Amino acid sequence: MYNNNNNNINNNINNNIKGIKKILTGIKPTGTPHLGNYLGAIAPALQYIHDHDGHDNQNQEVESYYFIADYHALTTIHDPKILHNYILEVAATWVAFGLDVNKTVFFRQSDIPQVMELSWILGCFSSKGLMNRAHAYKALLDQNTCNEDDPDAGINMGVYTYPVLMAADILLFDSDLVPVGQDQIQHIEIARDIAKAFNSRYGKDGVDILKMPNGIVRKEVAVLPGLDGRKMSKSYNNTIPLFLPSDKLRKLIMKIKTDSSGPTEPKNPDDSLIFTIYSEFASEEQKNQMKQRFLNGIAWGQAKQELFELMDNFLKNPREKFNYLMSNPDEIEKLLKRGKELALISAQKTLNRVRKTIGIN
Ligand code: ADP
Ligand code: TRP
Repeated sequence: MYNNNNNNINNNINNNIKGIKKILTGIKPTGTPHLGNYLGAIAPALQYIHDHDGHDNQNQEVESYYFIADYHALTTIHDPKILHNYILEVAATWVAFGLDVNKTVFFRQSDIPQVMELSWILGCFSSKGLMNRAHAYKALLDQNTCNEDDPDAGINMGVYTYPVLMAADILLFDSDLVPVGQDQIQHIEIARDIAKAFNSRYGKDGVDILKMPNGIVRKEVAVLPGLDGRKMSKSYNNTIPLFLPSDKLRKLIMKIKTDSSGPTEPKNPDDSLIFTIYSEFASEEQKNQMKQRFLNGIAWGQAKQELFELMDNFLKNPREKFNYLMSNPDEIEKLLKRGKELALISAQKTLNRVRKTIGIN
């Protein structure tokens, strides 16, 4: 009986693998969304849907799953009001930039209890050593050691098993592609390692039970630097939040670190955060012109002013939409409700397959 079940399971996954290409990404609501989140994850994810409109280059059907990783945020945010507000902010950000809930399954991680069940199951196939090597955990350990604290001080189990929960997010939806910034690639590799361990125990005749995901990273903005030159991150307080009012946005852009070259000295565009960001919002023609002006010599103040104008213009409509949604949270909830229903169906299918596979029905 077990073998028969397995055959059905294998047929299902085969149909999945062949039938639909799935693209999935999540953002954890641990702070106000910033330019790094937009350029590293949100824009490429939305671009993929825009470019493919339901089908990829081989005319294969594409489904997208974009979600708010609220249980991941609980590893660090323990204030209910703040967490709730960040969840709304992340949701409103996706929609403000044009996510179409009729084309994407848009949901909140905590609405899908199957994630938790799969997370436990996957934990039983995740070696402790794999968790010990995860960058985020290791960074905290190093920090404690540096401060001559107990190495595990302040590190909760959520932080330690974070990669298992992320693997559950990814594997539950049979994801093929996961658009993220460079810092998340290790987590996707861990998800692959866990899937491999599971498949090598239960897969049959070379057919996998869990689908192998692949990360997609945009090289130009793999790690967008923040105002202080380190990676732009909510944790470093060096971000350019996406929906600041114009005057505040301008102030922050003026704060971007530059070198001490004079106003008429030539500048290397490839070495400049201002040019990197400018290129992301500019047309090809604007980009080439700005490149030339960098090479000829442009004052930093002028370059920053032009970056501000370009970004402010681009962000105008999303900002209005974001502010509208934040004042009407019921609308956000309505959008998430539809995604929840669809995500639950998809999640339960995978979980049934996994439960049968491991012998728990
Ligand atoms: P943060 O580091 O600010 O907490 P998250 O970990 O919530 O950001 O990241 C959400 C998504 O945005 C991830 O895919 C991550 O790789 C991407 N991302 C975050 N910061 C950057 C950055 N500076 N450059 C490129 N992508 C980024
Ligand atoms: N760990 C990701 C981050 O910090 C958020 C996340 C959770 C995620 N689950 C995911 C991203 C699944 C991609 C796929 O940004």
